[in-house]
Amino acid sequence: MLSRKARFNSHGQDSSYFLGWEEYQKNPYHHLHNPSGIIQMGLAENQATCTFVTCFYNLSFDIIESWLENNPDATGFHRNGKSLFRELALFQDYRGLPSFKNELADFMGEIRGNKVRFDPNRIVLTAGSTSANETLMFCLAEPGDAFLLPTPYYPGFDRDLKWRTGVEIVPISCSSSNKFRITKPALEEAYQHAQKLNLTVKGVLITNPSNPLGTSMTRAELNHLISFASAKRIHIVSDEIYSGTVFDTPSFISIAQAMMEYKNLEDTGIWNRVHIVYSLSKDLGLPGFRVGMIYSNNQTVVAAATKMSSFGLVSSQTQHLLTGILADKNFIKSYIDKNRKRIRKRKQMLVSGLLSAGIDCLKSNAGLFCWVDMRHLLRNDTFEAEMELWKKVLYEVGLNVSPGSSCHCGEPGWFRLCFANMSKETLKLSVKRIKAFVDSVGGIDSKGRMISPKRSNTPFVAMEVFTKVLDAPAFLVAFLFLQINKKLLASELVPGDRVNLRVSRLILKDQSHHPLVRDLFKVRVNVLDKLISQEIYYN
Ligand SMILES: Cc1ncc(COP(=O)(O)O)c(C=O)c1O
Repeated sequence: MLSRKARFNSHGQDSSYFLGWEEYQKNPYHHLHNPSGIIQMGLAENQATCTFVTCFYNLSFDIIESWLENNPDATGFHRNGKSLFRELALFQDYRGLPSFKNELADFMGEIRGNKVRFDPNRIVLTAGSTSANETLMFCLAEPGDAFLLPTPYYPGFDRDLKWRTGVEIVPISCSSSNKFRITKPALEEAYQHAQKLNLTVKGVLITNPSNPLGTSMTRAELNHLISFASAKRIHIVSDEIYSGTVFDTPSFISIAQAMMEYKNLEDTGIWNRVHIVYSLSKDLGLPGFRVGMIYSNNQTVVAAATKMSSFGLVSSQTQHLLTGILADKNFIKSYIDKNRKRIRKRKQMLVSGLLSAGIDCLKSNAGLFCWVDMRHLLRNDTFEAEMELWKKVLYEVGLNVSPGSSCHCGEPGWFRLCFANMSKETLKLSVKRIKAFVDSVGGIDSKGRMISPKRSNTPFVAMEVFTKVLDAPAFLVAFLFLQINKKLLASELVPGDRVNLRVSRLILKDQSHHPLVRDLFKVRVNVLDKLISQEIYYN
C-alpha cells in the first residue's frame, strides 16, 4: 500500500536510539507515580513541569517563564495595546518576518561572542535543524551522492540526511585514541572509501559542538577541514545547534569565524560552499516551537532553500513571540550566561557521580550530555556485548541511555548520557542507580583497577548480581522473594531497611520457565516498586 519512498528503511526508527525512547514511553519514571520507572537519559534536550505521568524539564525554563510573565503583550499578541491577531493570522510570506530574522542574526552573533556578524538576508527559516539539514541535502546533492560525517554522530542524521533525499553517509572514523578528534588522514580515508563505493562526495557535515561528544572543534580541526574541502571542491555543512551550550574552555569557534581567520582563501570558492545550520531547540530549550535556520553565503543556495522551506515553515505567531524575547538584549545576555553556568554545574554533578562509580567521561566543554566510557563493563569487546549492557541498563537499572553504536561509534562500550532534561533529584537518582549497578557487577574500571561486586552500604535495596545466588537453584531465589514479600505485606519492613537479598533480573529471566519463578517475577516488580518508593520518600 505504501510507496517505495515511505517504506524506505533508512528512517532508523528501529535503532536502539529510538527503541530506548519507546521503552521509556511505556514505563516513564515519575517521582510520585512511578518511582521505579525508566529515567530518560537519551534525550538531548534542555527541556520543570510535571504532569501526572511525566515531567518536562528545562534547566532554564524559569528564566524564560519570568520574561513571559513580565511581557504579557508578547503572548497575548498585542503591540501598544492593539491586537496583532489579524496581522499574524494572515501573514504568509515564506521568507519569514524580517524583524525576526534580524533578531536571530543578532542572537547568533551574541552566542559567538560577536566575533562574527550574520546578515539576516542570508538566513532561511526552517522547522528546526531537522528540516534545515534535509533541505541542504536536497539543495547540494543528488540521490546517491555522499556526505562525509565524523563518527560518532547524532543518530537522527540517518533519517534527516538520507531518508527522503537518497543521500548516502560515509563515516569519517574518529577514535578514542585522540579523543575522537578529526584528523587529515581520517578525512582522506573517508573520501577514498566513498570513491571506492562509486559515490560522488558532495561535502562534509560536522556538528560543532559535537553531539554526542560534548566537545567543540579545535582550530586545527577546523583548518584541516577547510583546506580539505577547498582542495576537493566540496561543501561544508556545520550544524551549530549546540553553540550556545559551550560552558567551559576552550571557547567555541564557529566555522564562520574559522573561515574569516583562515589565510589565503580568496580564490578557492569555498566561501560559497560553507553553510551553517542552527535552531533554538537546544540553546533556548524550545524544540517544540520548531524554529531552525540555514545560513549561507551562497545566494543560489539561499534562494533554493527558501523555496523549499514552504514545506516546513515557522508559524508567524512563533516568530512574533520569539522576536520579542530576542529583542530584549539584556535579557538574552543574562539568559545565555545563566544557562551556561547551570549546564556546567549539572554536567559536573553527573561526571563526579559517575567517577565515584569508577566510570570516566570524555572531557567536555559543551552540550547537554556526556560521552561515557563503559568499556570496562562489557563482557567482551564487541557490539553484541554493548547491546547486552545497554539492555541491562535500560531494563534492570531503569535508565534509557544511548549506546555508542546508535551514534555509529567505531568502538564498543561508549554511551551518551543526557543530564539537562531532568531535575537535580532525578539526576541524583540516576547516578545512584548506576552506582548500585556497577557495585553489583564488579569488573575493571576505566583505569584498569578491579572493582569487586560489593554489598551496598546505602540504606536501600540494591538488586545486585551476587555470585553465590547466581548458582542458586530457582526455588531458593523464589523462596527469598517469598520471604521479602511476606515481610512487606506484614509491614515488618520500614523505610530505609536494608534487605539482605541479592539477585538480578537476569537470574529470574534465565529461570523464567519455572512456574514458581514466573509468578514471583511479577511479585518482585511490585516489591521493588514499593521499596524504591519508600527510599525516595523517606531517605
Ligand atoms: C546535532 C543535531 N542536529 C539536529 C537536531 C535536530 O534539532 P531540531 O529540534 O532543531 O530539529 C538535533 C537534535 O537533537 C541534534 O542533536
